[in-house]
Amino acid sequence: MFTQAFRVLSLVLLVIGSVRCDADFESVRTTMKRDRSGKRGDPKQKYFHESVFHPHYDGRFAERPWPYKEAHDHLIVLTKCYLATMASVGAETWINHGSLLGWWWNQKIMPWDSDVDVQVSESTMHFLASYYNMTSWHYELPGVPGGRDFLLEVNPHYVNPERSDWLNVIDSRFTDKESGLFIDMTTVRRNETHPEPGMMTSKDGHEFKETDLFPLRSSLFEGMPVKIPYAYAKLLTKEYGQKALTRTNFQRHKFNPENNEWELQQAPQKPVAGKPPGQ
Ligand SMILES: *[C@@H]1O[C@H](CO)[C@@H](O)[C@H](O)[C@H]1NC(C)=O
Ligand SMILES: *[C@@H]1O[C@H](CO)[C@@H](O)[C@H](O)[C@H]1NC(C)=O
Repeated sequence: MFTQAFRVLSLVLLVIGSVRCDADFESVRTTMKRDRSGKRGDPKQKYFHESVFHPHYDGRFAERPWPYKEAHDHLIVLTKCYLATMASVGAETWINHGSLLGWWWNQKIMPWDSDVDVQVSESTMHFLASYYNMTSWHYELPGVPGGRDFLLEVNPHYVNPERSDWLNVIDSRFTDKESGLFIDMTTVRRNETHPEPGMMTSKDGHEFKETDLFPLRSSLFEGMPVKIPYAYAKLLTKEYGQKALTRTNFQRHKFNPENNEWELQQAPQKPVAGKPPGQ
């Protein structure tokens, strides 16, 4: 009798538990009049929703993309606050992909990049999910009146490491509640079923040798302490080709070795288009 009741109860809990979507507009809204998240067009199983106007914005907090210069400035603030937050809770995180390439050149976000790529270890994601889901972080920043607030939100699907759950490749998000820009956090896990030993994978399909990532190295990014993968040059060459490490003309920008900056060669027409949602 008791087991029967227990079974019914756990079934009910399971059903309730499977209704999973990100925190709704009303519960997190700031100044926006209406929700601009792409929620309605997204499949039900997808937890995070990108805005209806750009894949790198959260439609709960922004109505339109920022112009080139403002977007870049917001991204720098977002990155600094992300790194500060993660350092303050002792989370293990590092930069990779496009952000690592930016680091290679001048330890900065490349001006044409519209997102920041970070990864975290499995134990860190579990720790963040257990203690920091839906936490808000406030920072006072020079030149930013009133400071900024950020939301750390963890996808409940983070517990499923399978790539078949392709709608939920982003394990967690750190979102600027004013600009609507966010940092996608992906977990890198040991893959015991991989034919090669010592391999790690993330849900977005990337594979890494554990010894290429660890031990992480300490460096600076946008003036903040940051961790980078151990074999950074090897990873960058593998992902972007040898040329990406030496070519000084890219995306209408030219690298100026005098001041160590990527300089825009002509005026941009529109905000830089991003990768498709969920990448
Ligand atoms: C985080 O909180 C949101 C909003 O309450 C919830 O939908 C989500 O399932 C939580 N994530 C985790 C990992 O528990
Ligand atoms: C582990 O690696 C194999 C081989 O690349 C891959 O097919 C599988 O999806 C990976 N598992 C996970 C959980 O990523």
